[in-house]
Amino acid sequence: MTTPDADSALTAQILEGLRARPRTLPCALLYDELGSTLFEAITRLPEYEVTRADVRLLDAHTAAVLDALASPVEVVELGPGAGLKALRVLSIVAARQAHTVFTAVDISREALLGCARTLEALPTVETRCVEATYLDGLSRAPRVAGTRRLALFLGSNLSNFDRDEAPRFLADVRARLEPGDALLLATDIGHDAARLVPAYDDALGVTAAFNRNVLLRLNRAWGADFDLGAFAHEARWNASARRIEMHLVATRATVATLHGERFHFAPGDTIWTESSHRFALDELRAWARAAGYDCTHQWTDAAWPFAHSLLVAV
Ligand code: AVJ
Repeated sequence: MTTPDADSALTAQILEGLRARPRTLPCALLYDELGSTLFEAITRLPEYEVTRADVRLLDAHTAAVLDALASPVEVVELGPGAGLKALRVLSIVAARQAHTVFTAVDISREALLGCARTLEALPTVETRCVEATYLDGLSRAPRVAGTRRLALFLGSNLSNFDRDEAPRFLADVRARLEPGDALLLATDIGHDAARLVPAYDDALGVTAAFNRNVLLRLNRAWGADFDLGAFAHEARWNASARRIEMHLVATRATVATLHGERFHFAPGDTIWTESSHRFALDELRAWARAAGYDCTHQWTDAAWPFAHSLLVAV
């Protein structure tokens, strides 16, 4: 059984990743409908303080962000998920201007539907949905005459990019903004393994389910036959690369077939499924400057090492 999910470019990427050493799978595979639901559950776990830190910073500083832009804004969010953060930002925006256009950009149709439903609570906000990757969606988001664009990239989503990709992504976003527009960028900045590892390996096992869902998805949408019981979740802090890595570790010898190809795993073999990098505040400022932004503000949370950087396009 295969579904439209199993498109050939992604299939080629999956096969290549499973043949490579270390074995890898693209982290975008984590976010199918079930995976996105499990991720929403992660954001409510006691060990995962990231989302709450993001919300605290938004509540504390959205007014200052709007003051810095000093004109009516339209808002675009890259990867809004269920739209709970957008709702908080836009309720502050809506208190200051009569009408606001909000564009949600997401690769998940379910996420967009949920986000649009969440934003229905704000009658003066006109929500538009663009089903696309971040950069395509930003290019396609319609501009509103006489407003500044405020782009939101929250939830530490930048952390999936490595240290070469992240500055390139910031430049690619800048190329799609006009001078005076801004990017509000949320990043996790902590590197205390004792706090980070439990945030990615929680007591309820939700993150383990989120990780192992990748194999379930390969079975369901690609017709593979991974034995889910033969793989355990592992969260590793890689100190030299300053990132959390999620791996699926074979706990016994197992074989899986995908697309007619057999993949053998010995006990201890791993598939690396996601990286979550921690970037330093000065590193972000340097990337911003090189990409054509002025980093006018950086705010940090008191309870979890988390930051918002306001990058104004110059
Ligand atoms: C959505 C990439 C920000 O890295 O914290 C959470 C994903 N993975 N728990 C993160 C994730 C496992 C999350 N990001």
